[in-house]
Amino acid sequence: MTSKTLRGGGAAARIAVIPGDGIGKEVTPEAIKAIRAVLSHAGIESTVPESNLKSGLLSTNPETRRSARRQVEFVEFDWGAEKFLREGITLPPDAIEMLSKEFDAILFGALGDPRVPSNQHAADILLGLRFKLDLFINARPVELFHDRLTPLRDRSINDVKFMVLRENTEGLYVGVGGFFKMGTPDEIAVQEDVNSRKGVERIIRHAFEYARAHKLKRVCMSDKSNAMAFAHDLWQRVFRQVRQEYPDIDSRHLYIDALAMEVVRDPRQFDVIVTCNLFGDIISDLGAQLAGGLGLAPSGNIHPGRTSLFEPVHGSAPNIAGKGIANPLGSILAAGMMLDFLGWHSEGETLRNAVRAALRENFVTPDLGGEKRTVEVGDWIARHVAAQE
Ligand code: NAD
Ligand code: IPM
Ligand code: MN
Repeated sequence: MTSKTLRGGGAAARIAVIPGDGIGKEVTPEAIKAIRAVLSHAGIESTVPESNLKSGLLSTNPETRRSARRQVEFVEFDWGAEKFLREGITLPPDAIEMLSKEFDAILFGALGDPRVPSNQHAADILLGLRFKLDLFINARPVELFHDRLTPLRDRSINDVKFMVLRENTEGLYVGVGGFFKMGTPDEIAVQEDVNSRKGVERIIRHAFEYARAHKLKRVCMSDKSNAMAFAHDLWQRVFRQVRQEYPDIDSRHLYIDALAMEVVRDPRQFDVIVTCNLFGDIISDLGAQLAGGLGLAPSGNIHPGRTSLFEPVHGSAPNIAGKGIANPLGSILAAGMMLDFLGWHSEGETLRNAVRAALRENFVTPDLGGEKRTVEVGDWIARHVAAQE
């Protein structure tokens, strides 16, 4: 397709789909199913070019309405452990240019396979995409959709609702470091924490802008500057500088250990949390659990105005992969975030409402105490969407 992308104001959106490994391959088709249902309901045509069908994942829906003015095209890529083990390829050399030029967004499953203990392919593909597409915002909303899902006593949906904004291109994730005297008793392993003023400033600034745009009052920056006297001193200085430009926002700082405690003790305190790459990874799993678990948590890896990547927070879950019982709702909510990013807020909201309805009806997979299978939940969401007025 040569028409301009939707993000560029054109008539079509192109979505790259990377299901990846393990349950990524099981939940991603359900997210596609949900997107197709919501687009079809909105009268938007979605197509799947035959030449790009790698696994039959994206079979075309004969009910697709042809009258649409806009079009969505999905293209699937088989990057992951299988390809790495078979061909030695992780992220193909032309991938970044192709994705940034030809696609509006990427829908991603998960990477990780016991047969690749080094996790090399995940580092190359997932971190490669985050870094090389410069997706500096990792937005991980924590939202409790039904009271019974939180492990916290006497908490309800009004108590657990905050956004974690994780720096996504730097920190301890950059892979700078090495081994010295490897394999000897004197071995040394070094992993550098890389923080640039630009990198720190843009994510902190985004946290304030996000709060303003969503009429949220409170931003909490979290670091470990009491122990990490260089890297996180920079976070302190940049935070003090940027917060001055946002006097309308109530901003505070917590050390990461105290933050972990406070989000459990009283999650109502938080609207927006901004932190570094590693701490954001950890606090987003903690947050996910407060809202029902990893199976429900979505995320967006975003650079405003550029090709961005949407994925569930969870991994490939080898312990349940292949059993057909993975919860697809995290991936479906990630698809909702992707629709928001593409400017289709009401379609994104339709997906979130469908997830709320499934939780209300307790039509859920075993991780949430139900007995439904991945595909059954996906089908339910698609039917619910199609049945809307
Ligand atoms: P994980 O998220 O894969 O699983 C943690 C636990 O949560 C497991 O018990 C799993 O069964 C459960 N779980 C996760 N998602 C679920 C879902 N949708 N439905 C039901 N249960 C679900 O984390 P892990 O076990 O630490 O890591 C497994 C592999 O995934 C590793 O290789 C890791 O590196 C990788 N990983 C990848 C990503 C990613 O691609 N973004 C994220 C996290 C972990
Ligand atoms: C996540 C994952 C990744 C991360 C791993 C697989 C490198 O845990 O997306 O949260 O740490 O960012
Ligand atoms: Mn993680």
